[in-house]
Amino acid sequence: PLAKPVDEVPAGTLTTLRHKARGCRACPLWRYGTQTVFGQGPAAAQVMLIGEQPGLHEDREGVPFVGPAGQLLDRALGEAGLDRSALYLTNTVKHFKYETRGTAKLHKRANAAEQAACRMWLAAELLRVKPKLVVGLGAMAAQTMFGNAFRITRERGVWRPLGEGAQGLATWHPSAVLRMPEEQKRHAAFGELVADLRAVAGALE
Ligand code: URA
Repeated sequence: PLAKPVDEVPAGTLTTLRHKARGCRACPLWRYGTQTVFGQGPAAAQVMLIGEQPGLHEDREGVPFVGPAGQLLDRALGEAGLDRSALYLTNTVKHFKYETRGTAKLHKRANAAEQAACRMWLAAELLRVKPKLVVGLGAMAAQTMFGNAFRITRERGVWRPLGEGAQGLATWHPSAVLRMPEEQKRHAAFGELVADLRAVAGALE
């Protein structure tokens, strides 16, 4: 149900896919990271959350959303009444990308070719999990789901059909919320993220 094309979707169970993705060389990002950060969660999850790409913490631990963005997401999920362990959590791109500045590794956004190369894994996860509800966190996931014209600022929180009875919406990326310099805007965006996640919880009932 992705708006953007995928050449060939890898076959197999989530466990098989996770193993295959470990050795992925479809784009140059494997050279950067410690490991592939594959999705996490039950194969029978009704809800899939799609982020952007792993950061430093995720790269080290091999698990999506464990750094500062993950902590904000956990808080939002809690307020919305969603249990993280029941969700399937993944990213649009499964490798960390960075530039080094001194000893620091500064996050760098995966480009269009890297996103395209990685899309087969997301397509495979969607095919295996078959979530009823899909949440795109941030523009990268939203545009992968709904196309490049999608704007979070205009269209966040709006359900759209994704085919095969599934629906999706996109909302703020937790990192985007964290980066907002003004406390008031940050607070408002966090409230919108919680409201959108509440709508997801409501749609499950
Ligand atoms: N940001 C993301 O988009 N994904 C993660 O897993 C962590 C931070």
